[in-house]
Amino acid sequence: MSAELACIERRCRARFPITEVLYNCPKCGGLLEAVYGKPAQSAPELKKLWRERRTSNAALDQSGVWRFREFIPFLDDYAHAVTLREGCTPLLDAPQAARYGGLDRVTFKHQGFNPTGSFKDNGMTCGAAQARRLGMRRVACVSTGNTSASMAAYASAGGLDPIIFIPHGNIAFGKLAQALEYGARTIQVEANFDQILALVRGLADRLGIYLLNSINPFRIEGQKTIMAEMLDQRDWRVPDWVVLPGGNLGNTSAFGKGLRELKEMGLIDRLPRLAVIQAEGAAPFHDLWRAKDRSHLNAVEDPHTLATAIKIGDPVSWPKALFEVAESGGTVEKVSEQEIADAKAVIGRCGIGCEPASAATLAGIRKLTAAGAIRADSDVVAVLTGNVLKDPNYIHEYHLGVLKAPGDVAVMPNFGNPPVVVPNDADRIADLLSS
Ligand code: F0G
Repeated sequence: MSAELACIERRCRARFPITEVLYNCPKCGGLLEAVYGKPAQSAPELKKLWRERRTSNAALDQSGVWRFREFIPFLDDYAHAVTLREGCTPLLDAPQAARYGGLDRVTFKHQGFNPTGSFKDNGMTCGAAQARRLGMRRVACVSTGNTSASMAAYASAGGLDPIIFIPHGNIAFGKLAQALEYGARTIQVEANFDQILALVRGLADRLGIYLLNSINPFRIEGQKTIMAEMLDQRDWRVPDWVVLPGGNLGNTSAFGKGLRELKEMGLIDRLPRLAVIQAEGAAPFHDLWRAKDRSHLNAVEDPHTLATAIKIGDPVSWPKALFEVAESGGTVEKVSEQEIADAKAVIGRCGIGCEPASAATLAGIRKLTAAGAIRADSDVVAVLTGNVLKDPNYIHEYHLGVLKAPGDVAVMPNFGNPPVVVPNDADRIADLLSS
């Protein structure tokens, strides 16, 4: 099937070969996306094919991304694909979290079950495949942590050299540890995410390194499959809302594009509404959404939040994300550090757990139901983007009651569960446990 890169700007829409190394439109500077001709199969045929592959032992079929390859048909040779069996993440019911969020019911699509513990694996398997197809040797990304962990794994698995750039002292330890273990050359720059992204975009061109940030359109293609898998798991019943955290806004762009395409292909007959949740100290997209003039995003100069994954002040994918949220009839909300911390502990108490950025979803749901924007009886899927083990320091400090938000503001352990230190004395311990 034909696949091309297209500029997303309506006044431009220039097209380029799928094999060109491009991140922005050479004509107008707009963002690029992958576009395809009509698939050969009908909607019922695709549903059947994708479901049947779940019983297959072939590597590509076991991947929750490549299982949907007719939905992301940019490769001409699947020998380039690198799979660690990404995707295949569960939908989990969580009655306690639903109550906390003001809903009758909520379902978590938990992307933390991925091989490197975040939704980035869905995109990275595609980004790494495209890098191999283009014959690139070195790949690079700037990251708040999860992209780098994922890229390190997929690049190493696919025989590429990973180089990662991260803000010095500002990423969760689990993520840094992964990058080191998976063998990435790791460069900690004394600057914030947005500054490093600008730096590395220049370096990538100069040194012929393939950039695997979410401006890379193939990452977005892979992340679309999160929505396809979620719908397949629900026998194609469309939820009312899909709620997700927003940082650089690649995922919002991917979900919106994926859902629109599934509708165009006839697999669903309506779009769920997208609700994007940001942290208060890093909420430029929220401010844009509320602004009268949405033609320009005002970057946050010095973004701050303990949810380091979404500590981004100048999200590159905002034009795509803005279009998708509007197209879906969705909304954008922001939540405080305290709200994120408490929602995270509630998700933990459900036996599920997630990293701080992911918990912004439940905090946002609570706020949106209280405001009447989401009804209690709505069918809501919330996407948990990262695994609970990504940021153990945050958890330990919250439960001990010593977690401090930026500006030295204490985060109260409203759902704290501190450990108890005891002497080596059976009677004392028995007393403690019977009290
Ligand atoms: N949740 C987690 C756990 C993330 O790691 C990220 C982004 C987001 C949410 C936000 O997603 O950027 O698509 O809006 N992490 C990136 C990184 C920026 O470098 O790992 P987004």
